[in-house]
Amino acid sequence: MFKMHCMIIALIVACLLAVAAQRVSSFELVPFTEVTNATERRAVCMDGSPGGYHYSVGSGYGAKNWLLYLMGGGWCADIATCQTYLNEIRGSSRFAGMANFTGILSPDKHVNPDFYNWNRIYVVYCDQSSFLGDSEVDGPGPKVQFRGSKIFDAVVEDLLAKGMGVGDNAILSGRSAGALAAILHCDDFRARLPNICRVKCLSDAGFFIRAENVPNADYREQMFASTIMLHNISGLLPATCTQRIDPSLCLFPENLVGDIQTPLFILNSAFDYYQVEYHLVPKSSPDRIGWNMCLNNLSICTAADKRLIIDFGDAFFKGVRQILKNPSGGMFIDACFVHSVAWVERYWSPNSTIKLGNLTILEAFANWYFDRDSVTLVTSSNYIENCY
Ligand SMILES: *[C@@H]1O[C@H](CO)[C@@H](O)[C@H](O)[C@H]1NC(C)=O
Ligand SMILES: *[C@@H]1O[C@H](CO)[C@@H](O)[C@H](O)[C@H]1NC(C)=O
Ligand SMILES: *[C@@H]1O[C@H](CO)[C@@H](O)[C@H](O)[C@H]1NC(C)=O
Ligand SMILES: *[C@@H]1O[C@H](CO)[C@@H](O)[C@H](O)[C@H]1NC(C)=O
Ligand SMILES: *[C@@H]1O[C@H](CO)[C@@H](O)[C@H](O)[C@H]1NC(C)=O
Ligand SMILES: *[C@@H]1O[C@H](CO)[C@@H](O)[C@H](O)[C@H]1NC(C)=O
Repeated sequence: MFKMHCMIIALIVACLLAVAAQRVSSFELVPFTEVTNATERRAVCMDGSPGGYHYSVGSGYGAKNWLLYLMGGGWCADIATCQTYLNEIRGSSRFAGMANFTGILSPDKHVNPDFYNWNRIYVVYCDQSSFLGDSEVDGPGPKVQFRGSKIFDAVVEDLLAKGMGVGDNAILSGRSAGALAAILHCDDFRARLPNICRVKCLSDAGFFIRAENVPNADYREQMFASTIMLHNISGLLPATCTQRIDPSLCLFPENLVGDIQTPLFILNSAFDYYQVEYHLVPKSSPDRIGWNMCLNNLSICTAADKRLIIDFGDAFFKGVRQILKNPSGGMFIDACFVHSVAWVERYWSPNSTIKLGNLTILEAFANWYFDRDSVTLVTSSNYIENCY
């Protein structure tokens, strides 16, 4: 009997020790929250399902700090393509499930020392026009709604009701098409948080360039022009841009960031994987086969392919300098063949191999965000690097 007791006690002690030794997990699975009254507020995805977000509640000093990270997923520029997205996360929150919070969303202070205990919100992207639309196309085929601006409004209002309005710090960030949305909504987000001292924005791989003197510029221009037309968003684009130039060019960040008043940080590769892979040579191009081979193995690229990549990088460096017009802007421009890094633990952690001026991405961003230093770090490489 005594022996039995001892064994049970030993077992309990062993279990307690195991729990104590276990570090907080580096990731967190977070359920989906619908915005309230989605249908009445028109805050719905392309298929009419409710817009929403994944929310991990802040703790300790982080309880008064808010980080929003907008999901990416491209844009649909023709109605048939939009309709094919109705049965996936790009067009419906029915597929939202659990989100895996890693990198800048990680709850582990070893991975994410500055934001691990903040209120962290990952917003589902299911409108395909960077949270800007408010229109619909009813047939032929299934009806499609473009309600991104309504989703953004509802998410911000619901978070204000949860206490965001009286916080200390806030960040609007996002990746890819969500990063472009963070740029587009940056000043608007700031305006809705008048009582928060420090509100800043972060674009993670959202700097899509026009590169008008590099081949296939017509393809890049058409991609955004068709999106703007289909989603009927020319009236919702920033007026500072549309009053100055053709609205069809007002989704290119180089035409937007110079007018933004709120501090904005551009985190991007000059050889962004997605842009080099898909915007530099269109999928339908006759050059595509050789191009795919080059991108699968950079050491076999022809001289002409290399020239194209280098010219695109040059255009990127030129375009991204527009951020310097924002006196409190910052940037971290690497040369890695990647597309969005902040949510990936390999890149967003103190162990990241991507460094500029000896700073990892998260150190550079934190120095800028907390006003420790102005940060403009740009790679000196003029060609793609593999960063693993
Ligand atoms: C949601 O709808 C209910 C009932 O109409 C209303 O009382 C409430 O204020 C609405 N909430 C929001 C956030 O719109
Ligand atoms: C979540 O992401 C982490 C880090 O990338 C990974 O180790 C883990 O397996 C993922 N968890 C799930 C359930 O997908
Ligand atoms: C960083 O690397 C060190 C040494 O390899 C390791 O002990 C530590 O756990 C790593 N940190 C993270 C956050 O992965
Ligand atoms: C397009 O947007 C304008 C406002 O910018 C609006 O007046 C018009 O009704 C919209 N058209 C459609 C089809 O939604
Ligand atoms: C890339 O091409 C070079 C030259 O043909 C070859 O030596 C190398 O093995 C290739 N690398 C991969 C990963 O296929
Ligand atoms: C980076 O850090 C290494 C090792 O600490 C040091 O030797 C080097 O001088 C530093 N470089 C810069 C640019 O600060």
